[in-house]
Amino acid sequence: MNESIFDTPVSIQIAQLRQTLNAYAHRYYVQDDPSVPDAEYDRLFAQLQALENSHIELLTPDSPTQRVGGKAIDQFSSVRHALPMLSIRTETDTSAAGAENFDARIRRELGLMPIDAAVVYVAEPKFDGLAINLRYEQGVLVQATTRGDGETGEDVTHNIRTIGQIPLRLCEAGQGRASPSIPPIQPIPHVLEVRGEIYMRRDDFEALNERQRQKIAAGAKGERIFVNPRNAAAGAVRQLDPTLTAQRPLSFFAYGLGEVSPSAEGGPAFETHFDLLQTLKQWGFPVSALVNRACGATELVAYYNAIGQQRDGLGFDIDGVVYKVDSLAWQRQLGFVTREPRWAVAHKFPAEEQLTTVLAIDVQVGRTGKLTPVAKLAPVFVGGVTVTNATLHNEDEARRKDVRVGDTVVVRRAGDVIPEVVRVVMPVEPSPHLERGVVFGMPHVCPVCASVAVREQGEADYRCTGGLFCSAQRKQAILHFAQRRAVEVEGLGDKLVDQLVDDGLIQTLPDLYRLDQTALANLDRMADKSALNMLEALQKSKQTTLPRFLFGLGIRHVGEATAKELARHFGYLDAIMAATEEQLQKVADIGPIVAKSLRTFFDQPHNCEVVAQLRACGITWSEGEPLLQSPTPTPLSGKTFVLTGTLPTLDREEAKALIESAGGKVSSSVSKKTSFVVAGTEAGSKLDKALSLGVPVIDEATLKAML
Ligand code: IVH
Repeated sequence: MNESIFDTPVSIQIAQLRQTLNAYAHRYYVQDDPSVPDAEYDRLFAQLQALENSHIELLTPDSPTQRVGGKAIDQFSSVRHALPMLSIRTETDTSAAGAENFDARIRRELGLMPIDAAVVYVAEPKFDGLAINLRYEQGVLVQATTRGDGETGEDVTHNIRTIGQIPLRLCEAGQGRASPSIPPIQPIPHVLEVRGEIYMRRDDFEALNERQRQKIAAGAKGERIFVNPRNAAAGAVRQLDPTLTAQRPLSFFAYGLGEVSPSAEGGPAFETHFDLLQTLKQWGFPVSALVNRACGATELVAYYNAIGQQRDGLGFDIDGVVYKVDSLAWQRQLGFVTREPRWAVAHKFPAEEQLTTVLAIDVQVGRTGKLTPVAKLAPVFVGGVTVTNATLHNEDEARRKDVRVGDTVVVRRAGDVIPEVVRVVMPVEPSPHLERGVVFGMPHVCPVCASVAVREQGEADYRCTGGLFCSAQRKQAILHFAQRRAVEVEGLGDKLVDQLVDDGLIQTLPDLYRLDQTALANLDRMADKSALNMLEALQKSKQTTLPRFLFGLGIRHVGEATAKELARHFGYLDAIMAATEEQLQKVADIGPIVAKSLRTFFDQPHNCEVVAQLRACGITWSEGEPLLQSPTPTPLSGKTFVLTGTLPTLDREEAKALIESAGGKVSSSVSKKTSFVVAGTEAGSKLDKALSLGVPVIDEATLKAML
């Protein structure tokens, strides 16, 4: 411990520790950019706790130690809001007209003429969580209330304290790392109410439900699976026991103010909503990086479209965007109608959940024999497309949701995600005449090849044991082998594979390379020219690389990255096929499960036969020197990069090859784990995502310097 700490009075030591811990917490929770290891935070935290325990009189509610361990309460008390919490008028027209109508109305109400300049707005995501009012007095959080009916809400301070992203004490001017274009630093008002949205990130939601599933599986009573992140967040905020809230990871974005009364120094003086948000950031609140100024209807529409496109990759749910007039003077002039401000509107995206009925429950067989129950649905338009199938994942999920033929269900489609049945909607008044279908049960034989289907202990899935004897597995195996990321047979899609397998032309993978012009041209809808093209594509696919070939074999747990590591480590296919589990585990990222899976695969004589025949058919790649010792540390090892936009000199493939040759990895999507995003011109949503997650963004020159 620093010696000088012993010399200072306890009250100063405590104040210093709190300030340091608050600064660390801000970097960790708000900026997603930890400045010290967790252990250092824990060490100072323990020090502070010890001091406070021996000097109870110095304990204050804004101390970082007071986030946890609050007492449970019997019931919520209601609180009348100092200023009512308003709602926003909702525009449900999901076309450009939604934004254009709003702009036209604002211009009319402000009495603007067509020749007058475009109105400046602030456009924000409409976060799908729950609104909260945070009251600070002399810079310290004193009360947090839910929106309730807008006039009166519930006091949930004890729970809100547990949320790391919410400051217990406002940052002294500038502490919340200012961005370059910031307004002058504003004095902290005597009373400040900040309003914003509590929400749960999607990854936190998935992890929470996974923990819930485990608890339920272990026989815990009274636990449940949450329907969606908003539901989970709302439940967490309305817990009587804050230790339960603390176990539910919640996040927060600030978007406005409630009551504000100036401090002795006066202020704060904002002219625009945008400046206000920048100041909230300085005071230590998270403000979404997606918030932007937009000029006139054209930019509102552009914002709506841009956010709509990024929606699935944001990491949290939004249900639209909000447009607000930027000038606060104009906001005052426009005022309110009943409980909605005239200066704001919410422009919704197409709903991601809809109701429909279950027509049947089919079981599909995947490449590895996995059986997946799939609900066949009455067609329904959801998330921008018509959905007729939705996955029920596996037997346990299907049983848990108790989906039956004839049921009305909620289907959800979030972007690229496979549509899923969220839950069954039971009639409000169950009628005695309503007969539901039978409870779903997984078949114990494969619905395609009638081989036995087994569910191994500890596994959620049933698998068909037919292997490549099963035509469903064969089809999937061929498609996997032929995909772009594997050996790439251009033009070989599922329709053609269905025909080839169903007509008995392909029994095993190598048969693909034994197809001839006559056999192909005899297929339905296959002209001579297409047959020739297919033969050419097959010919072209023969020249490949070891990682692509390995990945293409479809060995369980061997994805693209693992295939690359294997090729790098061993250099030769024969060496991989001969390696023991122990030797395989020497490869970076390969553990016992993957090693076992590889060994099992190559222990099957028929798999080795397939490999030999493929090589005999002319599939080749260049084999390299094996990398026997562990790879020499390379400048980028352990770093993950995401490329976006057009780089000045390198194309995608070149940049990827350079990064990989220096030991780095290239991934296609940005997450908290991404080390760097390399951005060029016209960088898109990946750049925004990097900014919103605080992932460092570099240009090509910096990348080259790192290499
Ligand atoms: S502003 C005067 N901004 O939408 C306007 N609200 O009906 C006050 N919401 O429950 C709200 N994202 O919680 C505003 N960027 C955003 C928002 C937002 C979500 C919620 C809010 C409220 C509802 C408004």
